[in-house]
Amino acid sequence: MKLAEDMKNCAAQIDGFFETFFADEAREHRLADAMRYSTMSGGKRIRPYLTMKTAELLGADPAVALPFAAALELVHTYSLIHDDLPCMDDDDYRRGRLTCHKMFDEATAVLAGDALLTDAFSVLVNAPCTDRQKAEAVKVLAEAAGSRGMVAGQMTDLEAERHAISFDTLKRLYANKTGALMRASVLLGCIAADCRDASIRNAFVRYAENIGMTFQIVDDLLDKYGDCSIGKPLGSDEKNGKNTYLTFVSPEEAKADAERLTSDAKAAVSTIAGGEVLADLADMLLHRQK
Ligand code: IPE
Ligand code: IPE
Ligand code: MG
Ligand code: MG
Ligand code: MG
Repeated sequence: MKLAEDMKNCAAQIDGFFETFFADEAREHRLADAMRYSTMSGGKRIRPYLTMKTAELLGADPAVALPFAAALELVHTYSLIHDDLPCMDDDDYRRGRLTCHKMFDEATAVLAGDALLTDAFSVLVNAPCTDRQKAEAVKVLAEAAGSRGMVAGQMTDLEAERHAISFDTLKRLYANKTGALMRASVLLGCIAADCRDASIRNAFVRYAENIGMTFQIVDDLLDKYGDCSIGKPLGSDEKNGKNTYLTFVSPEEAKADAERLTSDAKAAVSTIAGGEVLADLADMLLHRQK
């Protein structure tokens, strides 16, 4: 199946899962509206695709992979809502629509993020799998999202505004703020499949770390040189005095690094049966325009 079609199928499954998830009338209405607004707003669904594809290649039950993938996307969505807040990147548009705090208000956006993060763990523990798989999934997602993962990266990112940092510090920051959730995406796929083979897990992790770094380099390039199809304000990084990949190298060098990282990602999964689709995904992420 062609990659684009496969990704569309996966996104439809994720959307279906969220429709059921948000149909729960027990949630406070305004909070539920804000959570749904940001979750169902046309994200690319890259991370859930990674989880579901990894799981599929390793022979997992899709009924386990789907809630794992959805949980990861809930955490990702929360990270974006908070990232856009006035006290962080202060951006008014995301995925071509008003950001959560602009559509609702700041307090609601904070709470919608809190709720998405917390609910993600209840989605994980309600997956139809063994308790051992649930415990491992919780550990992987918590460690990736928390103070040694995504949030740590976001903290360094903010602290580094208008301050000089080293290129190595920036790369560590990127491995945390963007790489950690990519890594968790493939690990959740491994756990859904109950794959305990360290060499297979390492291959997926190496792949994810390389596409994670590529992803953020391309995000930086699009922030500076993209067009309105990215669905978020252009020039946000410059407005905030951010250190980005382009603080350290020219756009041409950044592209060359992204190409090298993509080759490394593809090499990492070259021995995985059916891994060609992940190689295609890596190329797609390198060349994306949004
Ligand atoms: C944006 O992620 C945040 C970064 C890590 C750069 P995506 O570009 O995957 O966002 P959506 O989910 O498709 O909107
Ligand atoms: C954010 O990086 C990564 C997150 C953990 C949300 P950016 O701040 O560059 O992401 P965008 O460009 O706003 O999507
Ligand atoms: Mg940011
Ligand atoms: Mg931002
Ligand atoms: Mg950005």
